Amino acid sequence: MSRRKLYSRREITSRVRQLAKDIASDSEKGEPLLAVCVIKGAVLFYADLVRGIKGRDVRFAFVSASSYKTDGERMVSGGTVDMKYCSIPVEEIKGADVLLVEDIVDTGRTIAALKNYFRENGAKRVRVAALLDKPECRKTEIVPDYVAFTIEGNPYIIGYGLDNAQQFRNLDGIFEI
Ligand code: IMP
Repeated sequence: MSRRKLYSRREITSRVRQLAKDIASDSEKGEPLLAVCVIKGAVLFYADLVRGIKGRDVRFAFVSASSYKTDGERMVSGGTVDMKYCSIPVEEIKGADVLLVEDIVDTGRTIAALKNYFRENGAKRVRVAALLDKPECRKTEIVPDYVAFTIEGNPYIIGYGLDNAQQFRNLDGIFEI
């Protein structure tokens, strides 16, 4: 299988550092930020991102989820999340400043459904940080608040956490196959 490098480790590091600075400056001092890693794909991005959010109290949380359509193809702003794993008790979501950390926003269904879940459980604010965004593939109205890289068209992406049938997650760079 041939692959083409899109972003090197060095480029990723620099973009993720910038995103972390933006997130820190948009977050209220003294207020904990609940950073929610959407496993497995966002793990490497998450680890680098949270380390760059300086001067803020960052709490860790992990979820594993997939979305399902509730209204055929017409779902526009969310849907229902099939929460396979959630490390945070519902009581801790109430009033929280939540940052969802996702590997890639494709149709947007997963992140839209997760946003709904955290809102419905009383989060005060829910923002989304995505390593990659494929806006041309969107089937929802979701727009991530922070995006490291925007991908044109619909290429399949691997590396830096993203997989193809569970392979290639540990590649240092981001590749198109
Ligand atoms: P959604 O379509 O926005 O709900 O994306 C759901 C999930 O599909 C993402 O979190 C990724 O795990 C996966 N995914 C979508 N596009 C790609 C890709 O190009 N490479 C690897 N995984 C992808």
